Parts: sequence; C-alpha cells; structure tokens
Amino acid sequence: MEIKVTQAEQNQLKTKPSDESQLGFGDIVTDHMYKMDWETGKGWSNPRIEPYGPIAIDPAAMVLHYGQEVFEGLKAYTAQDGGINLFRPEENFKRINRSAERLCMPEVDVNLAMEGMKKLILLDRDWIPRSEGTSLYIRPTMIATEPHLGVRPARTYLFYIIIGPVGAYYKEGLNPVKIHVEDFFVRAAIGGTGEAKTSGNYASSLLAAEEAKKKGFTQVLWLDAAERKYVEEVGTMNMFFVIEDELITAPLNGSILPGVTRDSVIRIVKEWGIKLSERSLPIDEVIAAAKDGRLKEAFGTGTAAVISPVGQITYKGEDHVVAGGEMGELSHKLYDEIVAVQYGHKPDPYGWVERIA
Ligand code: COI
Repeated sequence: MEIKVTQAEQNQLKTKPSDESQLGFGDIVTDHMYKMDWETGKGWSNPRIEPYGPIAIDPAAMVLHYGQEVFEGLKAYTAQDGGINLFRPEENFKRINRSAERLCMPEVDVNLAMEGMKKLILLDRDWIPRSEGTSLYIRPTMIATEPHLGVRPARTYLFYIIIGPVGAYYKEGLNPVKIHVEDFFVRAAIGGTGEAKTSGNYASSLLAAEEAKKKGFTQVLWLDAAERKYVEEVGTMNMFFVIEDELITAPLNGSILPGVTRDSVIRIVKEWGIKLSERSLPIDEVIAAAKDGRLKEAFGTGTAAVISPVGQITYKGEDHVVAGGEMGELSHKLYDEIVAVQYGHKPDPYGWVERIA
C-alpha cells in the first residue's frame, strides 16, 4: 500500500526549539503526523502523512467512553556521525499488538506502521535534536473511532504516530528521584490490563501520583494489588534493586509493563556476569536491606526515563536514603552503556540499533 504524503504549507510550519538544553518532555510536536484507518471487513487502509493537527472525532467515539486505546513510546537518536538511529523499534510494535489483543482491538500492520514511522521521521528530521540526552520521542497510538454507546469492541479504529523532540523525562534529569511506596491505591491486578500499554492504566495512577507529588515525591512505587506486599513498578518505569550482589526486578507476571529498557538491562547485565533475579521482591525485604546497608542501589528503566536512579524510598512514612542519595555505580554504568549504543558512540554488540539514515 502506498503512503500518501501531504506536506505542510510554509505558513503551517512551526518554529523549532532553539535551545536543546531546555527541552523537557512531551510539549513539542513536529510539523507532520502519520495516520491509517481500520474497519471490520476491510482491514487497514489509507496510510498517509499529513500536516500535524487536530483529529475530528465523533462525541460518541468509543475510545472516549470505554477507553479502547493503546500506545507506544520509542525514540530516534542523532548518531555520532549525524545518522539517525532507532532503538529496538520492532519490540514496540510487537508490544502494541499484544496490548491491542488485550483491549480487543485489531492487530496493527507492523510493516505499514514502521514504514510510515520512518517516512515521518525522515520528513521531519530537522526536528531531531543532536545533543546527548535529547532525542525524538515517537508516540504510536491506536484509538476506537466508531460512534456507538453500547459496550462492545468498536468496528473502526484510527492508528496514528506523532513525534517530538525531548530531553530528560524527569526535571531531576540524571539526579536521583524520590519515590513513595503506595500501600493503599493499586495500579493493576493480575488478570487486569497492567501489562498492556493503555491509557486506563495511566488514568488510574494519577490520584496516588498527585498526592505523592504534593509531598515532594517524583513518583509512586506500586505494590501488588492482592497483598500490597511485593514491589511492582513505577508507572512510567520498571524498577531494579541491588541488594548485596544481586540485581532484582519483578517478574512479568501479568500486572507489570514488559519494558523494552527493562529487557535491555537484563540482557546487558547477563553479559556482564552480574547476578540477576526476576523474582517477587517483598517491600519488607527492600526496606530491611535499606536499613542495614545491604540495599546498594535502586533505579528505574523506561524509554522516556532511560535509567533513573532512586535516591530515596519512603514507606509507611519512613524515609530511606539509597546509595547516599547519589547515582549508584551500576546505574551509571548501565546508563552509559545504553546511551553509547543508542547514539552510536560505540559499536552495537546486541543488534538493537536500526539505522534509518
Ligand atoms: C515511555 O517510557 O515511553 C512511556 O511511555 C512512559 C510514559 C511517558 C507514559
């Protein structure tokens, strides 16, 4: 299927940010977007790139009422030699299709979506920032567009991709964040939608996150929904803890997002010969280790956040400083390794980088 490209008129072009050091996350979008439509019996059609702009949607569109939405987050980087690198893009498209299946939405045509994404990035390539720590964030999204008020899967969908230059996700940048362990609200239960990347998971996380922010925390660390006993994830990141010589992360048991950066960290540390356990980790074990000095480091992983060190964990009103409130040695090493591969500062021994220009 041919992708139709309609370029923005000169007067529709936006002003690009002039200072890359001031880029935050999520406020700036480029001049174009990619779209394609799906309907029952017809499948995907009309792949197109258009000037970025609002989408006309029926007020009865099912996404607005019953939340059939899935999305992804990946990045393009300006490589050391001026080329453009993507990081494990096929993983994001596999995941959007697993999310779509959970939400009774159609499977995205991965070849068409990837082709559209690359075309879009190349068309708006002047928007890709160049300095380390900055990138072009890519947000593939699918929504149910059929106007219908009965509860059932929709029969029409829109898939679209928007892109925009970003810097660090947290205002702290690479400085350690403070996290609040949430022991009342839960993010997701086993059997729910926790492992799908869908808007409802984020909507349900907001109240606890807002309350935590008012108290000075950056994020909430979720515990399992059944017992409030085991560490799960931090809504925007998967979590890792170094207790003595063991690096521990929660297993993918159905309520946790299977992060691409999480998977990359696991692969890297295995290569490095570090003892890695994907196991249920009781919060009491983390706190006991923090109290007697065995908790060496804690960090989050995510596409937006990359590696984000945790400098303080607060549980039941007690603060526990982690790694002296600094970025730990392993967190630093992992950050350097992942960034070096993404920006092409070193050869990619993992086969993760896809060069598109
Ligand atoms: C990402 O890391 O790409 C995410 O999607 C996390 C958040 C910005 C929703």
